[in-house]
Amino acid sequence: MSLSVVILAAGKGTRMRSSLPKVLHRVADKPMVGHVIDAARQLNAVNIYIVYGFGGEILKATLTENTTSNDLTFVEQRDQLGTGHAVDMASPFLKDDEDVLVLYGDVPLTKVSTLENLLAVKPENGMALLTVNLANPNGYGRIVRHDNTVVGIIEQKDASTEQLLINEINTGILLANGGDLKRWLSNLSSDNAQGEYYLTDIIAACHKEGKVIATAHPETEVEVEGANNRVQLASLERAYQLREAEALMIAGASLRDPSRIDIRGKVIIGQEVQIDINCIFEGEVFLANGVQVGANCILKDCVIGENSIIKPNSIIEQAVVGDECSVGPFARLRPGTTMNRDSHVGNFVEMKKTTLGEGSKAGHLTYLGDTIIGARVNIGAGTITCNYDGVNKFQTIIDDGAFIGSNSSLVAPVFIGINATVGAGSVIAKDIEAEQLGVARGKQKNISGWQRPTKKS
Ligand code: UD1
Ligand code: CA
Repeated sequence: MSLSVVILAAGKGTRMRSSLPKVLHRVADKPMVGHVIDAARQLNAVNIYIVYGFGGEILKATLTENTTSNDLTFVEQRDQLGTGHAVDMASPFLKDDEDVLVLYGDVPLTKVSTLENLLAVKPENGMALLTVNLANPNGYGRIVRHDNTVVGIIEQKDASTEQLLINEINTGILLANGGDLKRWLSNLSSDNAQGEYYLTDIIAACHKEGKVIATAHPETEVEVEGANNRVQLASLERAYQLREAEALMIAGASLRDPSRIDIRGKVIIGQEVQIDINCIFEGEVFLANGVQVGANCILKDCVIGENSIIKPNSIIEQAVVGDECSVGPFARLRPGTTMNRDSHVGNFVEMKKTTLGEGSKAGHLTYLGDTIIGARVNIGAGTITCNYDGVNKFQTIIDDGAFIGSNSSLVAPVFIGINATVGAGSVIAKDIEAEQLGVARGKQKNISGWQRPTKKS
């Protein structure tokens, strides 16, 4: 049966103390509701309805940027009259013969496997409810059972003293047939302690029709926790990060400390990968077999080849590092950088739109921008490519085997030929042919009998 998902996201999130709608607050740099949408997509939901109340424009803009999917439908709930009313906003879109899963935009850590369990337990003639037993059920709707059969949900504020002792609570997540759901929602009343249209009242309606309510349970409580303030948001962030860290370790990576890593995207690893503390991974990062990442590195949208070592405090973004390379400490590879096999960059080296050829080295204090460097080139300390005249960018080409003496400026566009040498301290503005030495600096004068200034007594 096909599946649609309704995500409740109308809450303003007053306790966030923010102008941003609550569900746009981020876990792992992705809006909470983005995690929920991801889960819905992994379940192959045909349609995803987002019920919003505040900040519709920014919600739509944020959730539809950088995506080609058109499975999202935004449904406004102008007045927040309760969870039942919220789901009912999507009723005009729901089909009678589909399954409808209700999720919450501020509950980002529900595992897809848990939702799959919920889908699996739903009886053909009935519905499925995600519940959990809590030592302290205070505040939640309680699951009311008669002879172990679910007959309804009673909200905290409507519960009797006896019902308040029930530990099995409603997570809010449920699954029902579209036709059933619409019928039950259209019959809801707001005659209760909060004067709201409770989604939870559909459980009793289902039971009254003689239909069965099956239950499934999450593996851990955090899967069904929401964030109402920034303290809870931070706690969800930690739970998410620990889950990611554990997944990496299960996949074979060694983490010096799983509580000191932040993954804000996807990390794909080979074998024998080692990651030291306080590293941040963003976008999509691929670490091949044997890669070592030192402490305090930030890696974003990059590929690191086999056995390469990223030393501490390096920053790599949109770059490709080949096999057997070393980077850092304190190196910065900016977008468009490629390091070929067995090449090396050391401390305070910055590269942008630059290719460093096989076996080439830039050990210290260097800027290489818009540069193509061949194989076995040595770039001396303090080399700067002057690639920018204030308006335009120009290219530097350094051919195989060249040797650039320390503290040289290469004024682009400029070409340094095969095995050419640049004398230290040169400002090179003209091409140097293969095998030539280029020197461009003031001549040294040695003055005999020079007297240093002396202090007057
Ligand atoms: C709800 C459940 C309760 C459950 C608890 C789990 C009902 C009546 N109660 O209670 O059984 O234990 O969640 O956390 O469903 N929302 C809207 N529009 C509305 C009202 C709510 O979009 O008109 C959204 C909120 O933004 C929130 C979610 O629905 O994300 C839950 O609403 P909330 O008011 O927090 O429900 P609870 O009272 O906590
Ligand atoms: Ca709540």
